[in-house]
Amino acid sequence: MEEKIIPPAERINRELDLETLAAPLDLAEIFGNDNPLELEIGIGKGLFLLNEARRNPDRNYIGIEIARKYLVKARERVEKRGVPNVRFVNGEAFDFMEKFLSDESLSTIHIYFPDPWPKKRHHKRRLFSDVFIPLAHRKLKPGGLMLIATDHAGYWEWMCEVLEKQTLLVHADRMPEAPDGTAGLTNYEIKYQKEGRTIFRTGYRKP
Ligand SMILES: C[S@@+](CC[C@H](N)C(=O)[O-])C[C@H]1O[C@@H](n2cnc3c(N)ncnc32)[C@H](O)[C@@H]1O
Repeated sequence: MEEKIIPPAERINRELDLETLAAPLDLAEIFGNDNPLELEIGIGKGLFLLNEARRNPDRNYIGIEIARKYLVKARERVEKRGVPNVRFVNGEAFDFMEKFLSDESLSTIHIYFPDPWPKKRHHKRRLFSDVFIPLAHRKLKPGGLMLIATDHAGYWEWMCEVLEKQTLLVHADRMPEAPDGTAGLTNYEIKYQKEGRTIFRTGYRKP
């Protein structure tokens, strides 16, 4: 099936300008509906967001990416296909969630292949940490999901330690999984699957 590509002049900019928007965000105003909101942290080139938003037109998606270059690439992918239920934020996820999202506003948080910061002295830069869990818990709706995947054994071990210590989120019966017929959920997963790397994944839920 051929894809319909929107001509550049007709594309709608889907990036949220945090300089001009009031915090917390008025999601109903931004999306024009009250559909459940999912957040992807560190979207890279945005493959997951594009596919997921097209598969679920009755859900809204925000993708946040700190690297401008990737954010623009992901945004253009979505805008040229006219996918209406995605918005983009160029920024740091922890700060964005804390300041711009209301408590209990998220139905799902997706964290796929977060930067592992392998050197010990850089571990403090890891997004997934003891302080991230209470924030995720606060921003998730009751029953909301946090889905995680990584290829990095050291970061996985760290994540398991963080998750085992905490009591706010419970293990869920859902895991992040690539839909049938696809080679992976995200660009990184596709690459790592081809290389034959082990992928670690899990899902947690707010009770
Ligand atoms: C290893 S890449 C994975 C990209 C994508 N999730 C995938 O699986 O293909 C991690 C991405 O997260 C972004 N990132 C890292 N820390 C971030 C943060 N605190 N907030 C937002 N984005 C972040 C990086 O710029 C990078 O694009």
